[in-house]
Amino acid sequence: MSSRRDHIVLMISIFIMFSMVKGQPQVPCYFIFGDSIVDNGNNNNLITTAKANYFPYGIDFPNGPQNGRFTNGRNKADFIAELIGFNSSIPPHATARCNEILRGVNYGSGVAGIRDETGIRWGDRISMNRQLLNHQDTILRINSILRNITATRSLLNKCLYTVDMGNNDYLNNYLDSRFYLSSRMYTPDRFATILVQQFEGQLRRLHSYGARKVAVSNIGLLGCLPEETRTYGRNASGCVDFINNYVQLFNQKLKVSIDNLNTNLPNARFIISNQTSISTGGPPIGFTVFDSPCCIISNTTAKGQCSNNGQTPCSNRNQYVFFDNFHPTEAANRAIATRSYTALLPTDSYPTDIKGLVQT
Ligand SMILES: *[C@@H]1O[C@H](CO)[C@@H](O)[C@H](O)[C@H]1NC(C)=O
Ligand SMILES: *[C@@H]1O[C@H](CO)[C@@H](O)[C@H](O)[C@H]1NC(C)=O
Ligand SMILES: *[C@@H]1O[C@H](CO)[C@@H](O)[C@H](O)[C@H]1NC(C)=O
Ligand SMILES: *[C@@H]1O[C@H](CO)[C@@H](O)[C@H](O)[C@H]1NC(C)=O
Ligand SMILES: *[C@@H]1O[C@H](CO)[C@@H](O)[C@H](O)[C@H]1NC(C)=O
Repeated sequence: MSSRRDHIVLMISIFIMFSMVKGQPQVPCYFIFGDSIVDNGNNNNLITTAKANYFPYGIDFPNGPQNGRFTNGRNKADFIAELIGFNSSIPPHATARCNEILRGVNYGSGVAGIRDETGIRWGDRISMNRQLLNHQDTILRINSILRNITATRSLLNKCLYTVDMGNNDYLNNYLDSRFYLSSRMYTPDRFATILVQQFEGQLRRLHSYGARKVAVSNIGLLGCLPEETRTYGRNASGCVDFINNYVQLFNQKLKVSIDNLNTNLPNARFIISNQTSISTGGPPIGFTVFDSPCCIISNTTAKGQCSNNGQTPCSNRNQYVFFDNFHPTEAANRAIATRSYTALLPTDSYPTDIKGLVQT
């Protein structure tokens, strides 16, 4: 008897698992704002050296290297889309067509920042302010499909939004004092304050466009990137301490800002995906190379990216955290997305994780 009952329970749980995999996504739409961590081709046709539509980028991607992701395979946004139940990736804004936009758009752009001038050294890029303008345009297009402002608004309220911004305001602005004035104008603390103020204004705009479920990534340990340890040398921590200290100022202020938004904006649910916690704590999961890149780094094109002269990258890509001097491998992107979706440690997300955001 008991074994028969167990059998039925097992069948029911298999049925539930199956319907979760095959069923509708947990939210009807997913909009992605950010930099090269999520860019899936928006920079391909911009005049910039910050693009990744050449070999060995995309070596493990189904359609090969022309997709424009800054990694060997899928990026963080691709894995988050999969975890919330979408059966394919969210299309880039540059090429999204017709009804595709009803399930979301990816606005991500390599070297983009919170500040408009961030990344200009490398050429064109779609800053957070421009990504918000693009989103306004998407909303008009959605409304012309649905022909009902109430329905458009209701759809936008239900979507998931993720924002990965701020990395380049340090890497390709404050820390690049030969090209940007910011480090001469502001102390690290002052810069973090104005950056968070600008970011908070942008997140308020996103809320005013109907966003309610918003997962914001804070800035990770930039001082541990291979490009930074190569440039500045390592402290006892193995990383460049002063850079991690600058970023921590931003992260502390961002948390206060997120609390403000949740308190003051109607029905707002902003969360922080804590990149520091996600990249450090927790059990080992198969990586063996943490501090050097898988591909051969270019000496001529964009700083810290893979060389474009056809050299083969490392073959054991699942063991590397970094594909080039800045960007995680597909294996690392999968790990980061998985812990952003379901927190492993209590510090991984605040006040809840993406799963908590989309399922309630
Ligand atoms: C993906 O899902 C959408 C609706 O959720 C459906 O219309 C489409 O046919 C699916 N595509 C595949 C390849 O299963
Ligand atoms: C517009 O959409 C709302 C919400 O989906 C619905 O209740 C309403 O009937 C729609 N109005 C028209 C004119 O279709
Ligand atoms: C880190 O290294 C730099 C350069 O070697 C040095 O100036 C600095 O004092 C070190 N910081 C710490 C906290 O050890
Ligand atoms: C993020 O994680 C770090 C390291 O685990 C922790 O010190 C910090 O308090 C966390 N921040 C938030 C907002 O949870
Ligand atoms: C770039 O320069 C470094 C040091 O000068 C050298 O070791 C490396 O092989 C060069 N990379 C390429 C792709 O030429």
